[in-house]
Amino acid sequence: MRFLFLGDVVGRPGRLAVQDQLPGLRERWKLDCVVINGENAAGGFGITETICDELLEAGADVVTLGNHSWDQREALVFIERQPAMIRPANYPAGTPGRGAAVIEARNGARVLVVNVMGRLYMDALDDPFGAVERELAACPLGEVADAVIVDVHAEATSEKQAMGYFLDGRASLVVGTHTHVPTSDTRILPGGTAYQSDAGMCGDYDSILGMHREEPVRRFLQKTPGARLEPASGTGTLSGVAVDIDDATGLAKAVWAVRVGPNLSEALPTGWEA
Ligand SMILES: [Fe+2]
Ligand SMILES: [Fe+2]
Repeated sequence: MRFLFLGDVVGRPGRLAVQDQLPGLRERWKLDCVVINGENAAGGFGITETICDELLEAGADVVTLGNHSWDQREALVFIERQPAMIRPANYPAGTPGRGAAVIEARNGARVLVVNVMGRLYMDALDDPFGAVERELAACPLGEVADAVIVDVHAEATSEKQAMGYFLDGRASLVVGTHTHVPTSDTRILPGGTAYQSDAGMCGDYDSILGMHREEPVRRFLQKTPGARLEPASGTGTLSGVAVDIDDATGLAKAVWAVRVGPNLSEALPTGWEA
C-alpha cells in the first residue's frame, strides 16, 4: 500500500499547493491513502467546512487537526457530521468530534488514523499515550486494521520519539506535526514502524512557520502588541512523508521524506515515479 502524509497546511499557499499538486501525485504515485493535517488551513488558524471539503476533494482521505482545531468555531459543529476530519484523541471527554477514523483505502485496506497531541510545552490535555493505546486496542493492526497512521501533534521531539517507540511494531507510521519544520530523521524503527519527528508544513517556506516574516520578527524584538499574524503569500511547498506499507503485516517497507515545491529540495519515493 502506498501512503502519503502531508504536514500542517498553512493558509492559501498551503491549500493551493495541495490542490495543484496532490491530484497529480495521487495518480503518478498510485497512492492508496492520503492523510493531511489541516489545523492551519484557514488563514493560518483552524479550518472551515469549505476548506475541509476542498482538502478532501483534492485527494485527502482523512484530515487531522491539533492545538488550532477550534480557531474557526464552526469546526466544533461540522466535525460532528464529517467523519473524515479528526481532532486529537486526548481532548477531555465530551469534546466534539472523534480522535480516530477508520477508512477504506483505494486498495481496499482498512486504515486506522489516530490524531493525538503532546503535552510538553503545549496545553495540558489527557495522557496522549493512554489515548492512543485505547484507540489501538479498539482497532489493532493486523486484526482489525490493515494499516495504522498516528499523527503526533507536539512541540518536543523527545515526546514524539517516545510515541514512536511506544507504538513501534503496532503502527505503520508515527509522524509528528505542529512545528512546521520538517526533520531529517526519516527512518523505520526496529519493530517496523516508519517514523519522522515532524512532517513539516504545506505552505510558503519563505516565511516564519508559514506566516509573513515582519510581525514575528518584530515580536521577538519588541515585546509589545502588534499586527495580526497573516500567512505568507508566496508559492507553497508540499512537505510530508511517503510510506510503502507491507500489505501482509501493515508495517513499513520503505519511507521517504517528500518535499515538492520551490523552497525545499526534493526527496521523492524511489521507484514510485512511473
Ligand atoms: Fe500547525
Ligand atoms: Fe499546532
